[in-house]
Amino acid sequence: MNIKKAVIPAAGLGTRMLPATKVVPKEVLPLADLPAIQYLVEEAVNSGIQDIIIITSRTKTAIEDYFDYSPELEAHLEAAGYGEKAAELRKFADMANIVCVRQKEMLGLGHAILTAQPYVGNDPFAVLLGDDIILSERPVTLQLEDAYREFGGMVIGVQEVPIELISRYDSVKMSPLRDRLYDVSAVKEKPRPEEIYTNYAILGRYILSSEIFDVLRHLPPGHGGEIQLTDAINALCGTQRITAVDFEGQRFDTGNLRGYLQAQIELSLRHPTVGPWLREYIKERAKTL
Ligand code: G1P
Repeated sequence: MNIKKAVIPAAGLGTRMLPATKVVPKEVLPLADLPAIQYLVEEAVNSGIQDIIIITSRTKTAIEDYFDYSPELEAHLEAAGYGEKAAELRKFADMANIVCVRQKEMLGLGHAILTAQPYVGNDPFAVLLGDDIILSERPVTLQLEDAYREFGGMVIGVQEVPIELISRYDSVKMSPLRDRLYDVSAVKEKPRPEEIYTNYAILGRYILSSEIFDVLRHLPPGHGGEIQLTDAINALCGTQRITAVDFEGQRFDTGNLRGYLQAQIELSLRHPTVGPWLREYIKERAKTL
């Protein structure tokens, strides 16, 4: 079965990027000349997904506005001789079928995913976390879909992180299957030192089955008093096959300033018009650092 739907949780308050995120949702902060969330939507679309559910919150109307038409602006651009720009804006708005659903209370990532249930139904679905921008040749969601087509069940995207940082993520207990694939037997959110299984963590990409919703609905609060997606996945270990893909790609946590700046530099260097200029600028500037 092909994955046709994706959920992008984007309701977080953006506290690590304040004050910039006081009035502007972190998901629409620019990376080169695109808002961050567009990279996630493009990844989903390039992975064959057309139906995208973005979980927002009451201060984040800019996200849905971005994916709407803007008739006045488009008309103005056309009249001023910028028809190509107007067409580009239309193209982005038509890129996918996007619905925005509000998470009314900030009860955690697991709760955000549960909010999507009426729109996901019984189909398996991809999850792309709003903060995790991943640059890769083959879209990471597609790398997970490859494993899903072969093994079914659920799939998580993992990478190694320095062991001293694993408590910021989660730790995955897994045994090698082949190449970059592993069988998962447990996952622990924000592990204490004695709870660390491996230094592999789930980094922002999942393919989940609809069984996750029942588990999430009955799950007690976990780390930080929040409903944790990782806890729900752990509860399904043993009843569902869960495959980890050690995905190929460079991942940036754009929810904090360092990760955001790294993603900014990398994506701007790849930008067709400013990229070559930026490369020269950085080289020149580095001489005086
Ligand atoms: C979330 C997940 C965690 C994951 C991390 C990075 O944590 O709960 O399992 O490793 O994203 O994708 P958060 O960054 O919201 O604390």
